[in-house]
Amino acid sequence: METRIFENKETVAKSFSAYLSDLISSKAEIHIALSGGSTPKIVFDELAAEYGDKIDWKKVHFYWGDERCVPPSDSESNFKMTQDHLLSKIQIPAENVHRIQGENEPVQEAKRYSHVLEKQLPSQNGMPHFDLVILGMGDDGHTASIFPDSIDQWEAEDLCVTVAHPVSGQIRVSLSGGIINHAETVAFLVTGKSKAEKVREVIQKEGNFDSYPASLVKPESGNLIWFLDEDAAADLR
Ligand code: 6PG
Repeated sequence: METRIFENKETVAKSFSAYLSDLISSKAEIHIALSGGSTPKIVFDELAAEYGDKIDWKKVHFYWGDERCVPPSDSESNFKMTQDHLLSKIQIPAENVHRIQGENEPVQEAKRYSHVLEKQLPSQNGMPHFDLVILGMGDDGHTASIFPDSIDQWEAEDLCVTVAHPVSGQIRVSLSGGIINHAETVAFLVTGKSKAEKVREVIQKEGNFDSYPASLVKPESGNLIWFLDEDAAADLR
């Protein structure tokens, strides 16, 4: 596990974008699961502005770690956020963008998306294998759309599960833990003061860390990188 700490969210976005660009250059084809949230949004802006014409997007396949069950035109849609901030600004073939269809019936969609992952991703030891899974962490320690009150879903056998948001009740489709921890690399993007306590508990295994889904992110490969700003890292020893 590695932590990389930057001054603010803008420098997190710059450094993560440079990391991503190097990773893409090193591969002939790359399969990446994206996240929703505020830090990915500025990463997408940075990628579009600084790397839009430098990255060979034809070899990149994008997937999502989670999606809200809303149409792709809805302001809550993680796909729409990515479309607005990145996909509409780069030359990526439409067939390389594998979105969770939030407009579909959620249980059916979780099944359909599991099949998409099985079909599209290279298989390693019998399980679909992402090169990179990008995750955020909520103030409550949730990651992807696995929340503390649905932490059992992390262990689900299915690659994708449905989860109700604990406050709004909004249904989400999320990857479960097995496929996340099977990725070659998992990168957390976490910024802001409101995350400092959970970042400390999860990284230093303190307090109620084992009740937070983010603590269950333990890639089999050992490649786990936390990209943090100074606010989010403020409580780390
Ligand atoms: C989502 C996410 C979610 C997010 C965290 C952190 O769709 O909401 O994928 O897991 O990454 O809630 O979000 P922030 O970066 O906005 O704090």
